[in-house]
Parts: sequence; C-alpha cells; structure tokens
Amino acid sequence: MSRADLIQPSATMKISERAKQLRKEGKSVIDMGLGEPDFTTPRHIVESACQALKDGKTFYAPAQGIPELREAIADKARAENGISATPENVIVTAGAKYAIYEAMQALISEGDEVILLEPAWVSYEAAVLLAGGRPVFVRHSDDFRDAEIEEHITPKTRMIVVNSPNNPIGVVYTKEFIKKVCDLAADHDLHIMSDEVYERIIFEGEHYSIASFDGMFERTITINAFSKTYAMTGWRLGYAIAEESVIAKMRKIQSHSISSPTTFVQYAGISALRGDQSFVEEMVNEFRRRRDILAKGLKELGFDFAPPDGAFYIFMNTGMDGNEFSRRFLEEYHVAVTPGSGFGKSYNHWVRLSYATSTENIIEMLSRLEEFAKKYVEKRN
Ligand SMILES: Cc1ncc(COP(=O)(O)O)c(C=O)c1O
Repeated sequence: MSRADLIQPSATMKISERAKQLRKEGKSVIDMGLGEPDFTTPRHIVESACQALKDGKTFYAPAQGIPELREAIADKARAENGISATPENVIVTAGAKYAIYEAMQALISEGDEVILLEPAWVSYEAAVLLAGGRPVFVRHSDDFRDAEIEEHITPKTRMIVVNSPNNPIGVVYTKEFIKKVCDLAADHDLHIMSDEVYERIIFEGEHYSIASFDGMFERTITINAFSKTYAMTGWRLGYAIAEESVIAKMRKIQSHSISSPTTFVQYAGISALRGDQSFVEEMVNEFRRRRDILAKGLKELGFDFAPPDGAFYIFMNTGMDGNEFSRRFLEEYHVAVTPGSGFGKSYNHWVRLSYATSTENIIEMLSRLEEFAKKYVEKRN
C-alpha cells in the first residue's frame, strides 16, 4: 500500500466539480463551496507578471525562490508580523499548500503525531499522512475559542498546527489562546505550524503571528501566501518562514520536486508586497458587508454558527446530517456548500458556507435555505 492510498480527494474540490456540472446543465447554481476570493488580481500585479515575461524572466529560478522576493517577504514579516526573519529564513513555494506539504515532509517522520484542531482545513490531514505521520484531532470547545490540546500530547507528538483566522470556522484566536499553544510547544519541545494565509481578512479581533512571540521563532514554521490576500489563487505563490535548517530541508525537497515556483510569477509577488495595498482593504470591506448579511440571515432562520471573525467562511450547524444537507441542497436547490465531515469526524452536522460570492447570491441562497429548512430541517439549535 502506498501513502497515497491513505488519503482522499479534497472534499472542497469534489463539491465544486459537481456544482460546475450542474451549471453546465443550465441550472442556476450558487456556489458557496469555494475557497477563493471572487475578485480579480489587482492590475499592477498582473502587469508586473507581463513585464517579467517581456523582460525574459522565463528561466529556472533558484530552488528557494528569487532573492528579491525573499527579501520583500522578510521585510514584510519584520514590519507587519514582528517576525525577525532574514531572506535566508524564507522559502518561496507553489502556494501555501505546497509549503505545508514540504514542511511536513521535512519535519515529520514515520509514526510522529501532529495535533490538528478539529474542524481542520482539509489538506493538513493529508499532508501529515503523506509524511508518514499520525494526525491527532483535538476538538475545539463549543464556542470554538479554545481546545484541550495538552491532554493529547504524547511522547510521539512533534507538531501542533494552528490556523488563524481559521478555515473552516472563521474564528480569529485570542492572544491568550495563542499564548497557551506557545507555552505548550515550549514545555513539550514541539514545532508549531502557523498557517496565516487569512491574516489580512479580519473583521473582529487581531492577528498574532506565533513566530513573533518570545522564543517561538525557532519552533515555528509560518505559512503564508499571496492567494487570499491578493486574489491570486491560480498563480500558485506562497511561502514559509522558519529557522534556516528547516528551510534547507524544504529547499532540498523543492529542488527535487517542482524545482521552484514559476519564475515570472515570483516577480509579480514582489509587486504585490511592495505595491499599493488599497485593494486588500476594499476586498476586506466587501467581505465584511457580505458576512453581515449572511450572519444576520442565518440567525433569522434560527441556525447556529461559529463566530465569523475572519477569513470568508461561516461554519454552520445544519441540525441534520451535514453530508445529506449538502447533497440535497445542491441537487434540489442548486446551492453548493461544503460538508463539515470533510474537516473532521466530529462535525457531521455542520457545513461550511463560503461568502466569496456576490451579495445577490447570498440573498438568493438565504431564500432557498428558508425553503429547504421548511422541508427538511426538523431540529435546529
Ligand atoms: C487554511 C488554508 N491554508 C492554506 C491554503 C492553501 O493556499 P494556497 O492556495 O496558497 O495553496 C488554504 C486554501 O484554501 C487554506 O484555506
């Protein structure tokens, strides 16, 4: 049996494909399953990619990423995140997902345990399994603001994965919770993988970068990307920041797998970081407006959901089996949502709604949900 036999195709992508198929058949499908901003990449970023192509940036790049981009990332990490990074602490990757994969390959050995806070974004489990590790799911508390991590730490535990703002729950962890995780990592000599891809998409609370806390830089692999912040999902550009020995291992893996992220795309990354940031604020304001409409609508319909502090998701209790809810809502009402079971077994009654879609779609979805609920949902919290 190969390690690939241990994993399933991504739950989010399966739903999206079915939604596309129904749309092709002429159905008016509302896709709330998507995990990507519905905005186009800002023009100045697109133009710098075009310019890089015209300038002949079409050759292999260094495995760790072009120095100018690594420098821009280190500058940003110091200025915005309080992480004392140099360009040597940075590796540029093909999206955050590949940074996560490489970091697991670099740090996890056969049988090592990795703590994932459940519900957890779909690809962490796969990345742990592909590295030969064992995912250990720890449920969030009922308010989604805490988790009893310590009880699950064993001599085999190597890493805790933290994702704030969180996909799928939308929660932004408090400083107290982040501090608690840092203390556990220090006490038990663990790594933390801090996935900060939604760091700029915050409506409530504040973002704390784990690597900025005292003594945490050496233990932390900070994962980030251009995908969500600059609406660049299809460009495949992300990065990791870590201690040099970790970066060296990831660089080896990268050099023998993808060689490096696409060269001209890396030049666009410099523009994204060093250029005008007004796009980000406009996008976040739009997400906030949509979140307010969606949260209000769901509340009026009597649905219970996790606190939507950031990212662009609402994690909702359907009051029935979440897989069945998702299947019927898509097949009969043509609304795609992601079943909670994709994020961990304890959330079988939940689904994730992505509001990376227009206000009109959100309003229409709410009216279809009202009809759906009348027909199917018996017990609601
Ligand atoms: C929490 C989280 N981490 C990482 C990623 C992957 O980002 P990228 O598209 O840069 O690979 C996603 C994308 O959905 C995500 O939600």
